[in-house]
Amino acid sequence: MSKVSVIGLGKMGAALAETLLKNGVPVTVWNRTSDKASYLVEAGANLAESVEDAVAASPATIVCIKTHETTHEVLSPLSSKLEGKTIIDLSTGGAREATDLVNMLMESGAHWLIGMINAYPTGIGREDTAILCAGPSKVWEDYGNIIKKLGGASEHVGTEAAAVPGLFAAMFTARQGFMFGLIYGGAVCKRAGISMEAFAKQVPVTLNMAGNYADLFMRTVPTQDYENSEATVSVYLSALNDVMDTFESTRTTDAFPRLMRDLTQRGIDEGLSGKELTSLVEILANDHGGN
Ligand SMILES: NC(=O)c1ccc[n+]([C@@H]2O[C@H](COP(=O)([O-])OP(=O)(O)OC[C@H]3O[C@@H](n4cnc5c(N)ncnc54)[C@H](OP(=O)(O)O)[C@@H]3O)[C@@H](O)[C@H]2O)c1
Repeated sequence: MSKVSVIGLGKMGAALAETLLKNGVPVTVWNRTSDKASYLVEAGANLAESVEDAVAASPATIVCIKTHETTHEVLSPLSSKLEGKTIIDLSTGGAREATDLVNMLMESGAHWLIGMINAYPTGIGREDTAILCAGPSKVWEDYGNIIKKLGGASEHVGTEAAAVPGLFAAMFTARQGFMFGLIYGGAVCKRAGISMEAFAKQVPVTLNMAGNYADLFMRTVPTQDYENSEATVSVYLSALNDVMDTFESTRTTDAFPRLMRDLTQRGIDEGLSGKELTSLVEILANDHGGN
């Protein structure tokens, strides 16, 4: 019997299986297109003939295929064979798919972890690579050491199925929010007669301030202490009204700054005027239905 099975030997799954083998972990592998397994078998992996055989071969199976939904499709035909097994899905996917998959696994009596790989395949096995996992703490206690062989900076970030997709959605929204800010910023600069070189030169300055935002966020949101602000919600509203004035007067499309201004105005309307801007998290987190 192997210690871990790996289902899915695309670029990422193959890197996972190879790294486990290099770490002396006995591995069984399965891939829909079986020839992708050849070099891993030469490196010492056992080859399973089917998904069912792969799951049966080890107490834990790492799945790394297209999405959580694909994992669900591949594993649900053998739900009666999953009892007592641990399934670690490192495929990507949204919260709904992750929840459906976890519900199926729990109904089948399987243990589970859902993980997000924050690396390219070449980063697998490095000390600074993080695979962020959610699932019952006991499963992390049992298999966190295996995950840490794949990424030394891996962490257990929650116990809910939606935790990892939620963290991905948050980090993607934060990072791409900055990029979309640059896109709208580039547009208003062009219309206001600022060269793209002059604008681009300011990007590192702004990114530097975003480092302070991270500190501010960590200091205020977990404690919900939004007092003693250096720049209050009302100060931000005033700045955003100026920004909107410039977008309007240069006739630049303004959906993104308008969204920020309207949310900040809502903060004022709901009594947050003297608080830190991060207090707006409380308003959004209490909204329902994605509006
Ligand atoms: N590559 C990265 O940099 C990276 C980084 C982080 C996360 N990830 C995630 O890792 C997962 C795999 O990515 P990858 O880069 O390895 O992709 P890939 O090279 O395109 O491989 C996809 C894998 O999924 C399998 N697959 C797809 N549909 C399937 C199905 N219906 N039934 C069974 N197997 C199926 C493929 O099998 P066949 O070989 O038979 O086609 C192959 O093993 C994805 O969720 C991806 O988002 C990748």
